[in-house]
Amino acid sequence: MSSSKPEKIAVAYSGGLDTSVMIKWLSDKYNAEIIAVTGNLGQKKEIENLEEKAIQTGASKFHFLDLRKEFVNSYIWPALKAGALYEGIYPMATALGRPLLAKTLVEVALKENCTALSHGCTGKGNDQVRFEVAFATLAPELKVYAPLRDWEFKSREDEIAYAHANNIPIKATKDNPYSIDENIWGTSIECGDLEDPMNPAPEDAYQSTVSPEKAPDEPQTIDIEFIQGEPVGVNHENLDGLELIERLNAIGGKHGIGRIDLVENRLVGIKSREIYEAPAASILHFAHKELERLTLEKNVFQYKQNIEIDYANLIYNGQWFSPMRSAFDAFITETQKPVTGLVQLKLYKGNIILQGRKSPHSLYNEELATYTSSDTFNHKASEGFIHIYGLGLKTFSQSLERNVPKKKSISVKTVDAKKVVFK
Ligand code: ARG
Repeated sequence: MSSSKPEKIAVAYSGGLDTSVMIKWLSDKYNAEIIAVTGNLGQKKEIENLEEKAIQTGASKFHFLDLRKEFVNSYIWPALKAGALYEGIYPMATALGRPLLAKTLVEVALKENCTALSHGCTGKGNDQVRFEVAFATLAPELKVYAPLRDWEFKSREDEIAYAHANNIPIKATKDNPYSIDENIWGTSIECGDLEDPMNPAPEDAYQSTVSPEKAPDEPQTIDIEFIQGEPVGVNHENLDGLELIERLNAIGGKHGIGRIDLVENRLVGIKSREIYEAPAASILHFAHKELERLTLEKNVFQYKQNIEIDYANLIYNGQWFSPMRSAFDAFITETQKPVTGLVQLKLYKGNIILQGRKSPHSLYNEELATYTSSDTFNHKASEGFIHIYGLGLKTFSQSLERNVPKKKSISVKTVDAKKVVFK
């Protein structure tokens, strides 16, 4: 008989097919006690009767944690202030949720004296990396099981058959071809017809937004208020972060805002096609950037653009719990000091249209910018400025004229457009 401790595994449980099958499979395979853990990040589906389901499936205990406020304040707002949009467009609802779920799972596991952690991510996605890098950072002493990487099931049907054979309660819903991950910051949808990037996203893939064609014919104007880069109100009503995001998801979804169709570069080296629905995230990123244009000093604004790309990559690539993020956050927090004010937007059939912006820290000076008689800009001073500013290039080009013999013009090979065939 082995004297090692019996296995006790904390499982990140969503209530869906994979994680339900996982509970039973892990407990059989490792003769383990299973602690099921679900974090509420604002997902609408599959959070009812989870405890009953988890226990019926074979878990000995179930923990449900409402993480929504922490998600907004400690994950979403930092990412918003950092302008973190992966590859320029994806607000990363899924990628931001993983480190918080990982941290929560670790906390429960330590409290429950677990020996291992387990998640239901596949072997070709980013999420396995995000979970496991976070686990390794927060609790390197715990083992990690990723059954979807090594179990025997080859398809959904295999899993359903196993569930039936083992009395695992699963919803007998009609076959949904999509893989969906949802939280308050957005919904990620892949698989089914979406796998051909030339296919337009089918309407039934979208979960919470209407198509621009079905959106109201009347536009809606909204004011978004920020204090030091954080959204604090909509239409002059103060709202806490969670309410504010929910409000904008509802308004934006109604106007067909925040549908994103993206072929993206995964960390594991493949390109994948995913669609996202993120009305609040799209509206808030848009408005926040416009307020920064008004309030950030030129060098800060332009330098921050580089940090935004790095910050987005850091989140996407599972490096949330890192000294690099703390360093970036220090920079971002400093930049946000003047980002207080109001942005007015018009929402109309899938479009976010900027109406106006104002701030007590605005650096826009109408007297300097105007072309009317109230202009205070010193036009004469430009002459000397241009002379000095251009002096280096002028000197360089004069040296070329003196030193470089004239070359024949270089011919560029072009492709014969008539020979290119698109299939
Ligand atoms: N591609 C996105 C990411 O890596 C979303 C992944 C989860 N998508 C899903 N449909 N389950 O962040």
